[in-house]
Amino acid sequence: GLVQHGINKKISLFIGDITALEIDAIVNAAKKSLRGGGGALNQIQHSSCCTWITGSRMMKIMFNMVDGAIHRAAGPSLLEECIALGGCNTGDAKITGGYKLPAKYVIHTVGPIGENPESLRSCYLKSLDQLLENKLESVAFPCISTGVYGYPNDKAAEVALKAIKEWLETDDNISKVQCIMFCLFLEKDVKVYEELMQQYFPC
Ligand code: APR
Repeated sequence: GLVQHGINKKISLFIGDITALEIDAIVNAAKKSLRGGGGALNQIQHSSCCTWITGSRMMKIMFNMVDGAIHRAAGPSLLEECIALGGCNTGDAKITGGYKLPAKYVIHTVGPIGENPESLRSCYLKSLDQLLENKLESVAFPCISTGVYGYPNDKAAEVALKAIKEWLETDDNISKVQCIMFCLFLEKDVKVYEELMQQYFPC
């Protein structure tokens, strides 16, 4: 029907680096302290590397974290504003400027560690509250909690898509936003989202 069509027009997938987006707001998968790109930790956070030895082989895993990438691209003023906010609870969201980012604002949300659907859902909804409170119309979400915080990718995507769909169907939220983007960084998320999009936002 018409409503369905309207909803689908507002949703899109973007594959790549969220810090490149010229958009009203990007969402950051932050930690409770909001001290994202902090000091020397910044290097580790942006591209953290974990090495260990199993048997005779050395294994190496790289973690790319969106928090580090956002702080690096925004510059040190972002951290100052984040520190002044005094932290953020799991499932909540707070907003700052975008500084050197092409995005005007950053919405920092703290995802759950491990699988906790209610609190992951809350991240998406509270981020959208921030969007509307600040009269913004476009936003991009990374795959919150699915990196370091270990939320299974497919389960997290279901929570994300369901939350956004239900939010768009609530009151006249749909008329207040122009674009909600899912920013996918990993191939496995592209697969998961492409499949789930058919289900939640069929064309
Ligand atoms: N653009 C978009 N997505 C990105 C980028 C980027 N530049 N870099 C990484 N990602 C993706 C990851 O590949 C993953 O799919 O963001 C998703 C979320 O992963 P994490 O950044 O690890 O976030 P999360 O699992 O929520 O863990 C949060 O990590 O950086 C710390 O301070 C942060 O402690 C907090 C924890």
